[in-house]
Amino acid sequence: MASYPIQPDHEPRRTAPPRTALMIVPTYNESGNIAALLEQLFALPTRKRTGWDLHVLVRDDRSPDGTGEIVEELAAGRYRGRLLLSRGTKQGLGKALELAFGEALELGYEVVMTMDADFSHAPLDVLPLLAAISDGADVAVGSRYTPGGLIPGDWPLSQIVRTRVAGSVARGVGGIDPGLRELTTNFRAMRRTVLASIDFGRVKARGYGFQIFLANAFSSGGWKVTEVPISFHTRAHGVSKASVKDVLEFIRIALQLNDDSPFKQLVRFLLVGASGTLVNLGSLWALRRILMPEDPVDDGIWLLSAAAIQISILWNFCWHTGFTFRRYRRTGGVLGARQILANLLKFEGASALTQTVIFSAFVVFSNLGVFYLFAQALGIAIAVTVNYWVSSHYIWDW
Ligand code: GDD
Repeated sequence: MASYPIQPDHEPRRTAPPRTALMIVPTYNESGNIAALLEQLFALPTRKRTGWDLHVLVRDDRSPDGTGEIVEELAAGRYRGRLLLSRGTKQGLGKALELAFGEALELGYEVVMTMDADFSHAPLDVLPLLAAISDGADVAVGSRYTPGGLIPGDWPLSQIVRTRVAGSVARGVGGIDPGLRELTTNFRAMRRTVLASIDFGRVKARGYGFQIFLANAFSSGGWKVTEVPISFHTRAHGVSKASVKDVLEFIRIALQLNDDSPFKQLVRFLLVGASGTLVNLGSLWALRRILMPEDPVDDGIWLLSAAAIQISILWNFCWHTGFTFRRYRRTGGVLGARQILANLLKFEGASALTQTVIFSAFVVFSNLGVFYLFAQALGIAIAVTVNYWVSSHYIWDW
Protein backbone atom coordinates (compact mmCIF):
# COMPACT_ATOMS: atom_id res chain seq x y z
CA MET A 1 0.00 0.00 0.00
CA ALA A 2 1.33 3.42 -0.89
CA SER A 3 0.00 5.15 2.21
CA TYR A 4 1.72 5.02 5.57
CA PRO A 5 0.45 1.87 7.26
CA ILE A 6 0.14 3.27 10.76
CA GLN A 7 -1.57 0.80 13.03
CA PRO A 8 -2.29 1.36 16.74
CA ASP A 9 -0.99 -2.12 17.57
CA HIS A 10 2.41 -1.58 15.95
CA GLU A 11 5.55 -1.74 18.05
CA PRO A 12 6.21 1.66 19.66
CA ARG A 13 8.54 3.70 17.47
CA ARG A 14 9.68 7.29 17.13
CA THR A 15 9.81 8.49 13.58
CA ALA A 16 8.84 12.13 14.00
CA PRO A 17 11.63 14.59 13.26
CA PRO A 18 12.36 17.10 16.06
CA ARG A 19 10.50 20.42 16.20
CA THR A 20 7.71 19.01 14.06
CA ALA A 21 4.02 19.34 14.83
CA LEU A 22 1.50 16.82 13.58
CA MET A 23 -1.84 18.15 12.34
CA ILE A 24 -4.57 15.52 12.62
CA VAL A 25 -7.39 15.98 10.11
CA PRO A 26 -10.31 13.58 10.66
CA THR A 27 -12.22 12.94 7.46
CA TYR A 28 -15.44 11.32 6.43
CA ASN A 29 -16.57 12.10 2.89
CA GLU A 30 -14.35 15.13 2.39
CA SER A 31 -13.20 14.43 -1.19
CA GLY A 32 -14.30 17.94 -2.24
CA ASN A 33 -12.08 19.60 0.38
CA ILE A 34 -9.09 17.47 1.32
CA ALA A 35 -6.66 18.10 -1.56
CA ALA A 36 -7.12 21.89 -1.41
CA LEU A 37 -6.79 21.85 2.37
CA LEU A 38 -3.53 19.87 2.25
CA GLU A 39 -2.14 22.23 -0.38
CA GLN A 40 -2.85 25.24 1.83
CA LEU A 41 -1.50 23.55 4.97
CA PHE A 42 1.78 22.54 3.35
CA ALA A 43 2.21 26.04 1.90
CA LEU A 44 2.18 27.61 5.37
CA PRO A 45 5.48 29.18 6.51
CA THR A 46 5.28 27.40 9.87
CA ARG A 47 9.03 26.94 10.33
CA LYS A 48 9.76 30.61 9.62
CA ARG A 49 6.89 32.03 11.64
CA THR A 50 6.67 29.63 14.58
CA GLY A 51 9.81 27.50 14.62
CA TRP A 52 7.83 24.31 13.91
CA ASP A 53 7.62 22.13 10.80
CA LEU A 54 4.24 20.69 9.99
CA HIS A 55 3.27 17.13 9.10
CA VAL A 56 -0.34 16.08 8.51
CA LEU A 57 -2.07 12.85 9.52
CA VAL A 58 -5.41 12.30 7.81
CA ARG A 59 -7.58 9.89 9.77
CA ASP A 60 -10.12 8.63 7.29
CA ASP A 61 -12.86 6.20 8.20
CA ARG A 62 -13.13 4.50 4.83
CA SER A 63 -15.09 7.35 3.28
CA PRO A 64 -17.23 5.97 0.43
CA ASP A 65 -16.51 9.12 -1.64
CA GLY A 66 -12.84 8.21 -2.09
CA THR A 67 -11.26 10.70 0.35
CA GLY A 68 -8.82 8.01 1.52
CA GLU A 69 -7.68 7.21 -2.02
CA ILE A 70 -6.97 10.90 -2.74
CA VAL A 71 -4.83 11.15 0.39
CA GLU A 72 -3.13 7.84 -0.32
CA GLU A 73 -1.96 9.10 -3.68
CA LEU A 74 -0.73 12.43 -2.31
CA ALA A 75 1.08 10.70 0.56
CA ALA A 76 2.95 8.50 -1.88
CA GLY A 77 3.71 11.34 -4.27
CA ARG A 78 3.64 15.08 -3.79
CA TYR A 79 3.70 15.14 0.03
CA ARG A 80 5.81 12.04 0.62
CA GLY A 81 7.35 12.09 4.08
CA ARG A 82 5.04 14.85 5.30
CA LEU A 83 1.59 13.37 4.83
CA LEU A 84 0.40 10.30 6.75
CA LEU A 85 -2.80 8.38 6.26
CA SER A 86 -4.50 6.27 8.85
CA ARG A 87 -7.66 4.33 8.13
CA GLY A 88 -10.29 2.72 10.27
CA THR A 89 -13.97 1.89 10.35
CA LYS A 90 -16.45 4.68 11.04
CA GLN A 91 -16.97 5.01 14.78
CA GLY A 92 -17.56 8.75 15.09
CA LEU A 93 -15.42 11.87 15.21
CA GLY A 94 -14.40 11.38 18.87
CA LYS A 95 -13.19 7.84 18.32
CA ALA A 96 -11.32 8.88 15.15
CA LEU A 97 -9.49 11.59 17.12
CA GLU A 98 -8.74 9.30 20.05
CA LEU A 99 -7.17 6.67 17.78
CA ALA A 100 -5.22 9.30 15.85
CA PHE A 101 -3.87 10.72 19.13
CA GLY A 102 -2.57 7.26 20.00
CA GLU A 103 -0.80 7.13 16.67
CA ALA A 104 0.66 10.62 17.04
CA LEU A 105 2.06 9.72 20.47
CA GLU A 106 3.45 6.47 19.18
CA LEU A 107 5.23 8.29 16.38
CA GLY A 108 6.76 10.72 18.85
CA TYR A 109 5.48 14.12 17.66
CA GLU A 110 6.16 16.88 20.16
CA VAL A 111 3.09 18.90 19.29
CA VAL A 112 -0.24 17.56 18.04
CA MET A 113 -2.93 19.65 16.38
CA THR A 114 -6.46 18.97 15.12
CA MET A 115 -8.70 20.74 12.63
CA ASP A 116 -11.75 20.02 10.46
CA ALA A 117 -11.23 19.13 6.80
CA ASP A 118 -14.05 21.28 5.44
CA PHE A 119 -12.45 24.78 5.59
CA SER A 120 -14.61 25.79 8.54
CA HIS A 121 -11.17 26.34 10.09
CA ALA A 122 -8.86 28.67 8.18
CA PRO A 123 -5.44 27.07 7.49
CA LEU A 124 -3.79 30.46 8.19
CA ASP A 125 -4.92 30.21 11.83
CA VAL A 126 -2.52 27.29 12.27
CA LEU A 127 0.24 29.89 12.62
CA PRO A 128 -1.03 31.71 15.74
CA LEU A 129 -1.95 28.37 17.33
CA LEU A 130 1.58 27.03 16.88
CA ALA A 131 3.05 30.37 17.90
CA ALA A 132 1.11 30.17 21.17
CA ILE A 133 2.80 26.82 21.88
CA SER A 134 6.20 28.36 21.07
CA ASP A 135 5.34 31.13 23.53
CA GLY A 136 4.91 28.61 26.33
CA ALA A 137 1.32 27.38 26.20
CA ASP A 138 0.73 23.66 26.80
CA VAL A 139 -2.54 23.88 24.92
CA ALA A 140 -3.69 26.48 22.39
CA VAL A 141 -7.41 26.40 21.73
CA GLY A 142 -8.80 27.97 18.57
CA SER A 143 -11.69 30.10 19.78
CA ARG A 144 -14.51 31.79 17.91
CA TYR A 145 -15.67 33.54 21.05
CA THR A 146 -12.43 35.15 22.26
CA PRO A 147 -12.04 38.84 21.33
CA GLY A 148 -10.72 38.85 17.77
CA GLY A 149 -12.50 35.58 16.92
CA LEU A 150 -14.97 35.58 14.04
CA ILE A 151 -18.02 33.60 13.03
CA PRO A 152 -19.39 33.85 9.49
CA GLY A 153 -21.83 36.66 8.85
CA ASP A 154 -24.17 34.21 7.12
CA TRP A 155 -23.96 31.62 9.90
CA PRO A 156 -27.53 30.49 10.65
CA LEU A 157 -28.91 31.60 14.01
CA SER A 158 -29.61 27.92 14.78
CA GLN A 159 -25.86 27.17 14.57
CA ILE A 160 -24.97 30.08 16.83
CA VAL A 161 -27.60 28.99 19.35
CA ARG A 162 -26.45 25.36 19.05
CA THR A 163 -22.83 26.13 19.89
CA ARG A 164 -23.75 28.66 22.61
CA VAL A 165 -26.17 26.21 24.24
CA ALA A 166 -23.57 23.44 23.96
CA GLY A 167 -21.07 25.73 25.72
CA SER A 168 -23.52 26.55 28.51
CA VAL A 169 -24.42 22.88 29.00
CA ALA A 170 -20.73 22.01 29.13
CA ARG A 171 -20.13 24.66 31.79
CA GLY A 172 -23.31 24.26 33.85
CA VAL A 173 -23.86 20.51 33.63
CA GLY A 174 -20.28 19.46 32.92
CA GLY A 175 -18.63 21.91 35.31
CA ILE A 176 -15.86 22.85 32.87
CA ASP A 177 -13.87 25.91 33.90
CA PRO A 178 -16.12 28.92 33.22
CA GLY A 179 -13.01 30.89 32.22
CA LEU A 180 -12.79 29.03 28.90
CA ARG A 181 -14.87 30.68 26.20
CA GLU A 182 -14.64 27.94 23.57
CA LEU A 183 -15.42 24.38 24.58
CA THR A 184 -16.54 22.63 21.43
CA THR A 185 -13.91 23.58 18.88
CA ASN A 186 -11.91 21.02 16.95
CA PHE A 187 -9.11 23.50 16.17
CA ARG A 188 -6.28 23.26 18.67
CA ALA A 189 -2.61 22.54 19.36
CA MET A 190 -1.33 20.49 22.31
CA ARG A 191 2.04 19.39 23.65
CA ARG A 192 2.46 15.63 23.69
CA THR A 193 2.81 15.67 27.50
CA VAL A 194 -0.77 16.94 27.72
CA LEU A 195 -2.12 14.21 25.45
CA ALA A 196 -0.12 11.51 27.18
CA SER A 197 -1.64 12.50 30.53
CA ILE A 198 -5.27 12.07 29.45
CA ASP A 199 -7.10 8.91 30.48
CA PHE A 200 -9.20 8.31 27.39
CA GLY A 201 -10.78 5.24 28.94
CA ARG A 202 -12.48 7.34 31.65
CA VAL A 203 -15.24 8.67 29.46
CA LYS A 204 -16.50 6.81 26.41
CA ALA A 205 -17.10 9.61 23.91
CA ARG A 206 -17.29 8.48 20.32
CA GLY A 207 -18.96 11.52 18.79
CA TYR A 208 -18.86 15.26 19.26
CA GLY A 209 -19.04 14.98 23.08
CA PHE A 210 -15.33 14.15 22.83
CA GLN A 211 -14.63 17.87 22.39
CA ILE A 212 -15.90 18.76 25.86
CA PHE A 213 -14.15 15.75 27.34
CA LEU A 214 -10.90 17.21 25.95
CA ALA A 215 -11.71 20.77 27.06
CA ASN A 216 -12.30 19.44 30.57
CA ALA A 217 -9.05 17.45 30.52
CA PHE A 218 -7.15 20.61 29.53
CA SER A 219 -8.71 22.88 32.13
CA SER A 220 -8.66 20.43 35.02
CA GLY A 221 -5.18 19.07 34.33
CA GLY A 222 -3.35 22.17 35.53
CA TRP A 223 -2.06 22.95 32.02
CA LYS A 224 -1.38 26.39 30.65
CA VAL A 225 -4.29 26.84 28.26
CA THR A 226 -4.34 29.79 25.87
CA GLU A 227 -7.34 30.68 23.75
CA VAL A 228 -6.33 31.95 20.33
CA PRO A 229 -8.91 33.88 18.29
CA ILE A 230 -9.76 32.14 15.02
CA SER A 231 -12.10 32.89 12.16
CA PHE A 232 -14.75 30.25 11.64
CA HIS A 233 -16.35 29.66 8.24
CA THR A 234 -19.29 27.83 6.74
CA ARG A 235 -18.02 24.47 5.42
CA ALA A 236 -16.85 24.64 1.78
CA HIS A 237 -18.22 21.32 0.42
CA GLY A 238 -20.19 18.39 1.80
CA VAL A 239 -22.41 18.15 4.87
CA SER A 240 -22.05 18.05 8.65
CA LYS A 241 -22.04 14.55 10.16
CA ALA A 242 -23.53 15.59 13.52
CA SER A 243 -26.75 13.76 14.48
CA VAL A 244 -29.37 13.64 17.26
CA LYS A 245 -27.41 10.73 18.73
CA ASP A 246 -24.46 13.10 19.07
CA VAL A 247 -26.58 15.57 21.03
CA LEU A 248 -27.63 12.84 23.46
CA GLU A 249 -24.05 11.68 23.82
CA PHE A 250 -22.96 15.27 24.43
CA ILE A 251 -25.38 15.55 27.38
CA ARG A 252 -24.32 12.15 28.73
CA ILE A 253 -20.65 13.17 28.64
CA ALA A 254 -21.44 16.53 30.28
CA LEU A 255 -23.17 14.67 33.11
CA GLN A 256 -20.15 12.40 33.58
CA LEU A 257 -17.44 15.03 33.65
CA ASN A 258 -17.35 16.65 37.10
CA ASP A 259 -19.17 15.71 40.29
CA ASP A 260 -19.07 19.31 41.40
CA SER A 261 -20.64 20.97 38.39
CA PRO A 262 -23.06 23.83 39.15
CA PHE A 263 -25.97 21.65 37.97
CA LYS A 264 -25.11 18.70 40.19
CA GLN A 265 -24.49 21.05 43.11
CA LEU A 266 -27.91 22.62 42.61
CA VAL A 267 -29.58 19.20 42.47
CA ARG A 268 -27.86 18.25 45.74
CA PHE A 269 -28.94 21.57 47.27
CA LEU A 270 -32.58 20.93 46.34
CA LEU A 271 -32.45 17.34 47.62
CA VAL A 272 -31.06 18.49 50.96
CA GLY A 273 -33.69 21.27 51.11
CA ALA A 274 -36.47 18.74 50.47
CA SER A 275 -35.09 16.36 53.10
CA GLY A 276 -34.85 19.32 55.52
CA THR A 277 -38.57 19.99 55.09
CA LEU A 278 -39.33 16.39 56.02
CA VAL A 279 -36.98 16.61 59.01
CA ASN A 280 -38.75 19.81 60.08
CA LEU A 281 -42.20 18.23 59.93
CA GLY A 282 -41.01 14.95 61.46
CA SER A 283 -39.28 16.59 64.40
CA LEU A 284 -42.30 18.83 65.10
CA TRP A 285 -44.48 15.74 65.18
CA ALA A 286 -42.01 13.83 67.40
CA LEU A 287 -41.49 16.76 69.82
CA ARG A 288 -45.24 17.19 70.14
CA ARG A 289 -45.69 13.46 70.87
CA ILE A 290 -42.85 13.41 73.43
CA LEU A 291 -43.29 16.76 75.18
CA MET A 292 -47.05 17.41 74.99
CA PRO A 293 -48.75 14.04 74.73
CA GLU A 294 -51.71 15.07 76.87
CA ASP A 295 -52.10 18.78 76.03
CA PRO A 296 -55.33 19.18 74.06
CA VAL A 297 -54.95 22.94 73.32
CA ASP A 298 -51.33 22.77 72.23
CA ASP A 299 -50.21 25.61 74.49
CA GLY A 300 -46.70 26.67 73.52
CA ILE A 301 -46.66 24.63 70.32
CA TRP A 302 -44.94 27.59 68.62
CA LEU A 303 -41.87 26.82 70.75
CA LEU A 304 -41.82 23.35 69.30
CA SER A 305 -42.16 24.82 65.81
CA ALA A 306 -39.13 27.05 66.46
CA ALA A 307 -37.20 24.02 67.72
CA ALA A 308 -38.16 22.01 64.62
CA ILE A 309 -36.95 24.88 62.41
CA GLN A 310 -33.60 24.88 64.23
CA ILE A 311 -33.27 21.12 63.89
CA SER A 312 -33.90 21.33 60.14
CA ILE A 313 -31.45 24.24 59.79
CA LEU A 314 -28.77 22.15 61.52
CA TRP A 315 -29.68 19.17 59.36
CA ASN A 316 -29.38 21.20 56.18
CA PHE A 317 -26.17 22.81 57.36
CA CYS A 318 -24.46 19.46 58.00
CA TRP A 319 -25.53 18.04 54.66
CA HIS A 320 -24.59 21.18 52.73
CA THR A 321 -21.13 21.14 54.34
CA GLY A 322 -20.48 17.45 53.77
CA PHE A 323 -22.48 16.78 50.62
CA THR A 324 -23.86 19.72 48.63
CA PHE A 325 -20.80 21.95 48.69
CA ARG A 326 -18.22 19.22 49.25
CA ARG A 327 -15.90 20.84 46.69
CA TYR A 328 -15.58 23.67 49.22
CA ARG A 329 -14.15 21.19 51.69
CA ARG A 330 -11.73 19.83 49.13
CA THR A 331 -10.50 23.10 47.70
CA GLY A 332 -10.92 25.31 50.77
CA GLY A 333 -8.44 23.30 52.81
CA VAL A 334 -9.02 22.46 56.45
CA LEU A 335 -12.34 23.52 57.89
CA GLY A 336 -11.55 24.47 61.48
CA ALA A 337 -14.13 24.85 64.26
CA ARG A 338 -14.11 28.63 63.83
CA GLN A 339 -14.82 28.39 60.15
CA ILE A 340 -17.65 25.91 60.74
CA LEU A 341 -19.18 28.16 63.40
CA ALA A 342 -18.87 31.21 61.14
CA ASN A 343 -20.54 29.30 58.33
CA LEU A 344 -23.32 28.13 60.65
CA LEU A 345 -24.03 31.71 61.73
CA LYS A 346 -24.12 32.82 58.11
CA PHE A 347 -26.44 29.96 57.29
CA GLU A 348 -28.73 30.96 60.17
CA GLY A 349 -28.80 34.44 58.66
CA ALA A 350 -29.54 33.02 55.19
CA SER A 351 -32.36 30.92 56.63
CA ALA A 352 -33.86 33.96 58.36
CA LEU A 353 -33.60 35.79 55.05
CA THR A 354 -35.39 32.88 53.40
CA GLN A 355 -38.34 33.16 55.77
CA THR A 356 -38.46 36.93 55.24
CA VAL A 357 -38.43 36.48 51.47
CA ILE A 358 -41.27 33.93 51.58
CA PHE A 359 -43.34 36.17 53.82
CA SER A 360 -42.69 39.35 51.80
CA ALA A 361 -43.40 37.61 48.50
CA PHE A 362 -46.60 36.19 49.95
CA VAL A 363 -47.76 39.65 51.02
CA VAL A 364 -46.92 41.18 47.63
CA PHE A 365 -48.38 38.43 45.44
CA SER A 366 -51.52 37.85 47.46
CA ASN A 367 -52.16 41.63 47.42
CA LEU A 368 -51.81 41.43 43.65
CA GLY A 369 -54.66 38.91 43.68
CA VAL A 370 -52.60 35.73 43.24
CA PHE A 371 -54.25 32.63 44.76
CA TYR A 372 -52.81 32.30 48.28
CA LEU A 373 -51.17 28.88 47.76
CA PHE A 374 -49.53 30.05 44.52
CA ALA A 375 -48.39 33.21 46.31
CA GLN A 376 -46.73 31.08 48.98
CA ALA A 377 -45.23 28.70 46.37
CA LEU A 378 -43.81 31.65 44.41
CA GLY A 379 -42.30 32.97 47.62
CA ILE A 380 -40.70 29.58 48.32
CA ALA A 381 -39.26 29.42 44.78
CA ILE A 382 -37.73 32.88 45.10
CA ALA A 383 -36.46 32.13 48.61
CA VAL A 384 -34.78 28.88 47.51
CA THR A 385 -33.05 30.78 44.70
CA VAL A 386 -31.87 33.48 47.09
CA ASN A 387 -30.74 30.89 49.63
CA TYR A 388 -28.79 28.97 47.00
CA TRP A 389 -27.15 32.12 45.76
CA VAL A 390 -26.14 33.26 49.24
CA SER A 391 -24.97 29.76 50.19
CA SER A 392 -22.84 29.26 47.10
CA HIS A 393 -21.43 32.81 47.00
CA TYR A 394 -21.06 33.82 50.64
CA ILE A 395 -21.01 30.69 52.78
CA TRP A 396 -19.54 27.74 50.90
CA ASP A 397 -17.78 29.88 48.33
CA TRP A 398 -14.46 28.93 46.81
N1 GDD B 1 -12.62 10.03 10.62
C1 GDD B 1 -13.81 10.56 10.88
N2 GDD B 1 -14.83 9.77 11.34
N3 GDD B 1 -14.01 11.89 10.67
C2 GDD B 1 -15.23 12.40 10.94
C3 GDD B 1 -16.30 11.64 11.43
C4 GDD B 1 -16.07 10.23 11.63
O1 GDD B 1 -16.95 9.48 12.04
N4 GDD B 1 -17.37 12.47 11.59
C5 GDD B 1 -16.96 13.69 11.23
N5 GDD B 1 -15.67 13.66 10.82
C6 GDD B 1 -14.83 14.76 10.34
C7 GDD B 1 -15.41 15.52 9.17
O2 GDD B 1 -15.08 14.95 7.94
C8 GDD B 1 -14.79 16.91 9.36
O3 GDD B 1 -13.49 16.97 8.86
C9 GDD B 1 -14.73 17.04 10.89
O4 GDD B 1 -14.73 15.70 11.40
C10 GDD B 1 -15.93 17.84 11.46
O5 GDD B 1 -17.11 17.16 11.09
P1 GDD B 1 -18.44 17.95 10.67
O6 GDD B 1 -19.50 16.93 10.49
O7 GDD B 1 -18.15 18.90 9.57
O8 GDD B 1 -18.67 18.75 12.01
P2 GDD B 1 -19.71 19.91 12.32
O9 GDD B 1 -19.52 21.04 11.35
O10 GDD B 1 -21.07 19.35 12.48
O11 GDD B 1 -19.18 20.33 13.76
C11 GDD B 1 -18.04 21.17 13.91
O12 GDD B 1 -18.37 22.07 14.92
C12 GDD B 1 -18.60 21.45 16.19
C13 GDD B 1 -19.06 22.49 17.19
O13 GDD B 1 -18.36 23.65 17.08
C14 GDD B 1 -16.81 20.36 14.30
O14 GDD B 1 -15.71 21.25 14.35
C15 GDD B 1 -16.95 19.71 15.64
O15 GDD B 1 -15.72 19.11 16.01
C16 GDD B 1 -17.32 20.77 16.65
O16 GDD B 1 -17.49 20.15 17.91
